[in-house]
Amino acid sequence: MTVDMNKSRSRSVSNGMDKVVSLAKRRGFVFPGSEIYGGLANSWDYGPLGVELKNNIKKFWWKRFVEERDDMVGIDSAIIMNPKVWEASGHLKEFSDPLVECKKCHERFRADALEEKKCPNCGASEFTVPRSFNLLFKTYIGAAEDTKSTVYLRGENAQGMFVNFKNVLDTSRRQLPFGIAQIGKAFRNEITPGNFIFRTREFEIMELEYFVKKDEWKEHFAHWQKEMTRWIKDVGIDEKKVYEVDVPDGERAHYSDKTVDFEFEYPFGQKELYGLAYRTDFDLKNHEKESGENLKYRDPETGEEFHPHVIEPSMGAERTFLAILLSAYEETDARIVLHLKPRLAPYKAAVFPLLANKPELVKLARKTYDLLRKDFSVAWDDRGNIGKRYYSQDEIGTPYCITIDFDSLEKHDATIRDRDTMKQERVMIEKLADYLSERIA
Ligand code: GAP
Repeated sequence: MTVDMNKSRSRSVSNGMDKVVSLAKRRGFVFPGSEIYGGLANSWDYGPLGVELKNNIKKFWWKRFVEERDDMVGIDSAIIMNPKVWEASGHLKEFSDPLVECKKCHERFRADALEEKKCPNCGASEFTVPRSFNLLFKTYIGAAEDTKSTVYLRGENAQGMFVNFKNVLDTSRRQLPFGIAQIGKAFRNEITPGNFIFRTREFEIMELEYFVKKDEWKEHFAHWQKEMTRWIKDVGIDEKKVYEVDVPDGERAHYSDKTVDFEFEYPFGQKELYGLAYRTDFDLKNHEKESGENLKYRDPETGEEFHPHVIEPSMGAERTFLAILLSAYEETDARIVLHLKPRLAPYKAAVFPLLANKPELVKLARKTYDLLRKDFSVAWDDRGNIGKRYYSQDEIGTPYCITIDFDSLEKHDATIRDRDTMKQERVMIEKLADYLSERIA
């Protein structure tokens, strides 16, 4: 792998994004990767709040698309697979972008992404002839670095589901239609990564393969299109900025007969958020041919054997993260607020003693904090004044702030303040957990 150091980070983050990128760094959502060594271009690490948000996104996806459905099972397959997988799937041949090099500064670009015929780096207009650049990350198994030991980090999770189709069928006895879901890392040697976490070389996909009868694919495609729209709304991505685009012939992935891209209006342009593809029986048929294993489904009623067709909703975790942050961010004269959906917020509540130097307030606040921490992720803050603490929690999207004051000592209640409305009400301490549960689910 070419290690291109961090020289172009500032260029790759466009202006409209600056506030979100800076908040993400300042508050511990996302840090530049390997920062103490000057970074590694386009690699990002998720900090204490970022990992919570990302985990909450993944947990909600799993709940929605696996646990709440009785036609879905999950798997977690290996990142390094037998290289024959990528031959059969067509990725070794087809998973490429056209690469050109600027003849003056030798910077490399994706030919199809060059908006003007000018080099974005030096302005020159002469490029090499486009050549096909395969995006699979190559590495070696064991001590020898030769063709026999060459393997690839997976470029998509889907192949894990296809190669395990028979295992899942044999062990879970599913009948069509049913799906196999997986969340995990994928790797692509992107020619032009950039725009913060939008396009990176290492990222996570939340993906499912839904197996159906051939003549039923259209209705299932429509179902998943609606489900993806519902998800977008429920995670708080601004629906007004989402466009469903039918990808024309010639621009779809090699395995797809129909693709609808869900595009989002990012500050750097309208670009892909998610994809929904009709993969036909392409993958199962090819794996059957290459592996010699029977990957057909036997209809229990008719006894007929056939390859199921596949509908694939595919959603990047990082693009979800980015679209959520951009949709949730609001800046007014008085404050910066992340209007995160409570179920996704890193902290569900923050607990404060009104005054940090009054031991009786601190003691009750600490007790309240410990009580709530059994069920929720909760922050503690006793620094500065209440106004500063609200400011700090609003910025990271904490939906509720709970203050223990002198009245609390007598009445055993607390003030709970809503991030979005800024309204306050008093709630008995022993009712706080129910209060949060009702509003967070
Ligand atoms: N199995 C189908 C598949 O992998 P894809 O559209 O190539 O389809 C799926 O990728 C999703 O992964 C995209 O819709 C996007 O959300 C995300 N994604 C793709 N490439 C990415 C990259 N380089 N960086 C971050 N996310 C990416």
